[in-house]
Amino acid sequence: MKKIAILASLLVSLGLYGTAAFAEITGTSHDLTSNTTLLTNAGNTEICAYCHTPHDASTTNTTTPLWNHEDTQATYTMYSSPSLDMTIAVSPAGVSLACLSCHDGTVAADQLLNFPSGVNAGQGIFSLGNSLGTDLSNDHPISLTYNAAQDVDFVAPVNSQVNGLQLFGAGGDQVECGTCHSVHDNTNEPFLRMSNAGSALCLACHVK
Ligand code: HEC
Ligand code: HEC
Ligand code: HEC
Ligand code: HEC
Repeated sequence: MKKIAILASLLVSLGLYGTAAFAEITGTSHDLTSNTTLLTNAGNTEICAYCHTPHDASTTNTTTPLWNHEDTQATYTMYSSPSLDMTIAVSPAGVSLACLSCHDGTVAADQLLNFPSGVNAGQGIFSLGNSLGTDLSNDHPISLTYNAAQDVDFVAPVNSQVNGLQLFGAGGDQVECGTCHSVHDNTNEPFLRMSNAGSALCLACHVK
């Protein structure tokens, strides 16, 4: 009896989890199944498949979990400024590269490593309306080592988070696209980790 009860509650929680994750992406612009020019034409209904695969995931982008999108090969101009105190990488790292594999506009959104069953190939180039391009010098710095000790104008991180905003990388100290954006949840448009009303997102890190 006990075992059955545990199993039942496990199934319920798995079911609930699945529905919740699905519901958050469904209908957002990250629900690429709603885009008829993509794999939907080939009968795909798998929302996650554009970004994740359960098997044979990327061996080149291993920082992004079970990653299924082909890498971008672009070279980027990074942000630079004389008043920058912290260290910025020479090129974007893992999680940001995952975003840029669609958002720099060089790789088709449906260029996957492991196509969902029944689909053999992408439907071709799909360029985003809002591509950032490869010049990131006019975008907020990313692949940046967050070190509040280098600048008093910053909130100190706790357990690799700054006021709940996730820092990435092996050292848990990198500001990446996913620090400000929640790729799965568009509650705070456009896919922000928290509302930026009153510049709250900016003030989560910056003491200004
Ligand atoms: C448009 C691309 C995209 C889609 C679609 C997508 N993901 Fe993700 N996912 C990412 C990226 C990028 C990361 C790593 C960055 C991050 O965690 O913010 C990630 C991280 C994750 C993680 C680990 C971190 C966490 O948030 O728990 C899980 C689990 C996950 N995704 C599950 C899913 C599932 C399940 C689906 C389908 C319902 C899905 N994802 C759809 C891009 C996507
Ligand atoms: C599989 C391709 C893909 C990946 C990977 C992906 N996106 Fe997107 N994203 C899209 C598409 C398609 C749109 C639709 C809007 C458009 O055409 O510009 C979009 C829209 C957005 C928007 C809203 C733009 C707007 O004007 O409303 C944001 C913000 C965004 N993505 C951020 C991210 C971030 C951050 C990541 C990584 C954590 C990411 N995306 C990964 C394909 C992708
Ligand atoms: C420091 C926080 C922060 C980081 C890091 C960040 N973004 Fe954003 N992003 C924002 C905010 C805030 C907005 C909304 C701007 C607005 O509404 O005026 C936004 C808007 C966007 C949009 C919508 C179109 C536009 O240009 O306004 C896209 C697409 C996007 N981000 C993608 C990315 C990608 C890809 C990365 C990594 C290369 C990234 N962002 C890194 C905070 C960030
Ligand atoms: C996750 C934390 C975080 C968030 C959120 C964040 N920033 Fe930053 N920002 C940083 C870090 C770290 C730097 C690099 C500071 C340095 O090296 O001196 C930076 C740099 C900057 C710079 C350039 C400073 C220079 O000296 O060139 C500006 C401007 C800026 N941020 C504005 C914003 C705005 C506006 C927002 C909200 C849309 C925002 N930031 C959100 C962490 C963050």
